[in-house]
Amino acid sequence: MFIEKLKLNSFRNYPEAEVEFASGVNLISGLNGQGKTNLAEAIVFLCLGKSPRTHQDKELILAGSNYAKVEANVKKNVGNVNISGSISNLEENKFWVNGNQVKKLGELFGNLVCVFFSPSELKIVAGAPSDRRDFCDTDISMLSEAYYNLTLRYEKVLAQRNKLLKFEKDHAKIIDTIGVWDEQLSSLASLIIKTRKSFLAKLLPYAKRFLKEVSGSREDINIEYQGISGETKEELKENIKRALEINLSRDMELGYTTIGPHRDDIKIELNGKDSRAYSSQGQARSIVLALKLAEMKIMEDEIGEKPIMIFDDVFSELDSGRQKRLYECLSGAQVIFTGTNFKFKPNGEFRQFKISDGKIKLKVKR
Ligand SMILES: Nc1ncnc2c1ncn2[C@@H]1O[C@H](COP(=O)(O)OP(=O)(O)OP(=O)(O)O)[C@@H](O)[C@H]1O
Ligand SMILES: [Mg+2]
Repeated sequence: MFIEKLKLNSFRNYPEAEVEFASGVNLISGLNGQGKTNLAEAIVFLCLGKSPRTHQDKELILAGSNYAKVEANVKKNVGNVNISGSISNLEENKFWVNGNQVKKLGELFGNLVCVFFSPSELKIVAGAPSDRRDFCDTDISMLSEAYYNLTLRYEKVLAQRNKLLKFEKDHAKIIDTIGVWDEQLSSLASLIIKTRKSFLAKLLPYAKRFLKEVSGSREDINIEYQGISGETKEELKENIKRALEINLSRDMELGYTTIGPHRDDIKIELNGKDSRAYSSQGQARSIVLALKLAEMKIMEDEIGEKPIMIFDDVFSELDSGRQKRLYECLSGAQVIFTGTNFKFKPNGEFRQFKISDGKIKLKVKR
């Protein structure tokens, strides 16, 4: 799939902008602080229904305005899709697909699918367990509204259980009533863990291959889900239920639930060592790059076409050999690279845009 046209209204530092992208490679250049990341963010906003860099949606609205809008015309195998979203100081964000307002956020997912890589994505390697869980959950949700709804249900039941643990001072009463929540929680948790594990099992062989291809090295990656053990749904459910029981006295002391998929981690190893502790900056970048390319393949397997690949400010960091190899891995996808300057020029067709103070100009079309 690819974005033919993107329109921004009062989004970040863009009062009004319109871009007609190439279906292949797009180079977005500009000095620091001109709006390159803002442009990438606008696309991701239509994909995830939220910004990849802030939880404060109001920041997305041009200073002094009350309302921002982003709209994309997307060409897909199935035909053209128009996707738009609005952010307002006065009401909730709204999204539309072909003019029909989306009722639940989950309905937006899958319409515009992109993979986003920026320096902040290095948190997948170096960050907290929640960063790795988010990476996994966001990707699965893009491909399955059912999984997204499952995570919402889990969070609801978890919040109920935590409320009981936090506010009920009589432990005997907690012990009496918590079974109802544990039954629901373990059932939902087992499905979440099972889905995450099978996603990672699909991701791993691609990540291994891309790490070798892009970094041109013999380095090997391994990914392991860390949480309650179990292979089948039933086994997982039983183990989670037992762990909830075993940890109940601690949970009562602390006032929240200390085990479950909301606490799990994903261990990423490089050459047999925990990458979070041992990998260099360059190695971390190669790992995340390999994971992002693996995401591209998984999405292609699931939806039958390549997602839109967005690389914000990461291309220029790669040496020319890696740039060339990355470029080859991306063939057939719409790619949007941003950077302060581009030393290389792609071989085939591409468009280059220059951004200056929230204005986007087409510079090269080849
Ligand atoms: N809501 C907003 N209203 C107006 N301007 C904004 C808003 N949010 C951010 N900006 C401005 O947008 C600019 C930053 O844009 P952006 O992060 O896209 O820059 P960039 O081109 O990616 O720069 P760099 O190369 O440093 O990453 C800043 O000048 C900032 O003040
Ligand atoms: Mg930037």
